[in-house]
Amino acid sequence: MRNYFIAGNWKMHKTRAESAALATALVAQLKDGKHKYLVAPSFTSLETVGKIVAGSNILLGAQNMAAEEIGAHTGEVSVLQLKDLGVQVVILGHSERRHVYKEDDALINKKVKLAIKHDLEVILCVGETLEERESGKAEKVCETQTEKGLDGVSAAEFEKVTIAYEPVWAIGTGKTATPEDADSIHAYVRKVVSRLYGAEAAKAVCIQYGGSVKADNAAQLMAKANIDGALVGGAALKPETFVPIAKFG
Ligand code: 13P
Repeated sequence: MRNYFIAGNWKMHKTRAESAALATALVAQLKDGKHKYLVAPSFTSLETVGKIVAGSNILLGAQNMAAEEIGAHTGEVSVLQLKDLGVQVVILGHSERRHVYKEDDALINKKVKLAIKHDLEVILCVGETLEERESGKAEKVCETQTEKGLDGVSAAEFEKVTIAYEPVWAIGTGKTATPEDADSIHAYVRKVVSRLYGAEAAKAVCIQYGGSVKADNAAQLMAKANIDGALVGGAALKPETFVPIAKFG
């Protein structure tokens, strides 16, 4: 079996006490899990959750970070502050960052390079809107976001990058891309990676799928040749919905 990477993005949910309860349950219930795991709580819960997952098989992730290392950036959180809390992975370019908070490829690219410089793993999210899909642009959008997001990232640095395909129309909507549709975009993104970094890197890269992943569709998605994991939102908020996804297969 491949080394699947199952990540929970908790978005703007949970107080520290609620985060601690979820993290504690996951540590206990996933300790015999076979895959690579990550939880990404809110900034405010990182320290609490970090202490709970330390030494377990669950990595600590942040949902975003500033494009600058330090300085006068009111309301931002820096890579140094994340490292200080034991964060190992950062999610960048999430569709909510792109579409609600208007982050563009250049900004996301700056964050990707800064995170890698500080030795964080990166989950770079790409994905098309419904309008882009319906006008036949899904592949092109994912290609552009991948290429621009990785601009200036060397082949050695790329080893720290996971790509998450998250079609915007499938996020939080209950609409999942069919395993076939998702796999075809994943295959396309893999080709883009091959052009940028070569065939070996394309084979090795982990490409997660995100968008209404649930216990009842996870196994079908993961069975596809090009789907190497999941980035889970809503279903990551409770042990009873996340653990069955995390333990699929
Ligand atoms: P949902 O699983 O709630 O659709 O969210 C997906 C997502 O955005 C994960 O980052």
